[in-house]
Amino acid sequence: MNIYGAPAAELKDYTYSKGLEDSGWVWDAETLDPYIADAQKAMPDSKMLSDPMPDAKERADIIAYLSTLRAAAPTVTDDVN
Ligand code: HEM
Repeated sequence: MNIYGAPAAELKDYTYSKGLEDSGWVWDAETLDPYIADAQKAMPDSKMLSDPMPDAKERADIIAYLSTLRAAAPTVTDDVN
């Protein structure tokens, strides 16, 4: 599953915290950043324990990496010549 661009709490075989279930979040840079920075601050009933990551550059690197794990880019098959 690609997390970047996916709605939060999407997996059917995992029981998420109620807060995350009801969040309506879609995972992108804006939602991932505070969640990675301090999960329990971003979502007080989070089951992901807080291991605060205060370094913005470190978070940006993780988010950039996650954003590369999306579904393959569409292939272009038409020749232009
Ligand atoms: C940089 C490292 C991490 C990132 C980027 C990250 C990211 C995320 C994201 C995006 C979700 C939401 C998943 C979804 O919506 O389906 C999540 C949930 C969760 N993560 Fe992490 N996570 C990290 C580290 C960890 C670690 C180290 C643990 C455990 C030791 C952990 C435990 C969990 C748990 C238990 C949930 C479910 C939260 C809930 O139901 O409230 N995560 N994580």
